[in-house]
Amino acid sequence: MNEPSSSDSMRELVKQHFRQQFSAEARWCVFSPGRINLIGEHVDYSGGLVLPAAIDRWMVAAIGVNGRNEVRLFDARFELSACLPLRVPLAVEKGSWLNYPKGVLSQIQERGITIPGFDLCFSSNLPTGGGLSSSAALEVMVATAVELVAGIQLDPREKARLCQQAEHRHAGVPCGIMDQAAVVLAREGHFLLLDCADFSVEHVRWESSQAELMLIDSGVHHQLASGEYRNRRDAVEKAAAEMGVSSLREVTSDQVRAFAFSEAVLGRRALHVATEIERTRAAVTCLVQGDCDHLGKLIQQSHHSLRYGFEVSCPELDFLASCCNAQPGVMGSRMMGGGFGGSVLVLLERAAAPALQSVIELAYREQFGLKASFLMTRPSGGVRVEACCGSL
Ligand code: GLA
Repeated sequence: MNEPSSSDSMRELVKQHFRQQFSAEARWCVFSPGRINLIGEHVDYSGGLVLPAAIDRWMVAAIGVNGRNEVRLFDARFELSACLPLRVPLAVEKGSWLNYPKGVLSQIQERGITIPGFDLCFSSNLPTGGGLSSSAALEVMVATAVELVAGIQLDPREKARLCQQAEHRHAGVPCGIMDQAAVVLAREGHFLLLDCADFSVEHVRWESSQAELMLIDSGVHHQLASGEYRNRRDAVEKAAAEMGVSSLREVTSDQVRAFAFSEAVLGRRALHVATEIERTRAAVTCLVQGDCDHLGKLIQQSHHSLRYGFEVSCPELDFLASCCNAQPGVMGSRMMGGGFGGSVLVLLERAAAPALQSVIELAYREQFGLKASFLMTRPSGGVRVEACCGSL
């Protein structure tokens, strides 16, 4: 099992790199977490209910004001540096990670906020490409850095929204609001029940004695992911339009089943959305009642629906999910996030984890010649700030 580097060692690491890169002491540290999603997949952009949580893995930044008219960035993990001028529009660079910070800075400037120049050195113990939303962690980290250096506090929902818009406009990914909202709003020890229709939230307690959460990174990320994501958005919008509603949140699964769509594929997509929202509601009841067996069933049904109804899974994820479901002590597992690769989330009894890992590791290697990575996680707090010297 991969042990994450502790938050203490990450803080020291970024402070040290900051010192070396910028010959100054950092003033603040920001911890911006990745996220999981218990259930409620591919429904956020239909105004649905989702149940994500932040996790105990982060992007960590050391930050200080630099008195210049530019933002200097240093990625300590990959030893990449960049300098972004603050006076000129920040153009999109196709395929570059810089689109995320650029997008966030542009969104904040568009809101009439003057950004003082600052230096930011960051590192991460969050796997990239594993479907844990390192992009939202990066966006929220930069937005939080701006709050610190500009001495402002953005409304948390507005902060999540501007990060989402940064991803739409600069990174070209038409994502929903789930990831950014989870990174900003999550609470330690809770899942975040987020209603994407009105952006209301409820924190639902996770009793760690109930079961454990394991993530298995498939190590694959299929190229079609972003194009297919856009197609799914178009399909659910078309399905909603045919049903005469503004989003599929407004219909029940029975109404979808009874409706004659112009194309069968629209019916499959809409049925996933309607049933997944119903499953998310039922999952909240399970959490409240401590019924992990039923929660596991809902998680398995979610995978089935994502695989056959929404068609966003892939052979590697299907294999991992079905192998896990067949193992003792596993209540349920499913693909998580956008799909076409990334990670599988497993709900299991604590004692079952070591045996599960060895069985799955071997079976996956035999089947695909690939190495799966495993990590145990738990719902953790959203983005947080610490003073590196002095007070906040
Ligand atoms: C990606 C997007 C989210 C959401 C999920 C699927 O993670 O960024 O907005 O749509 O896929 O649930």
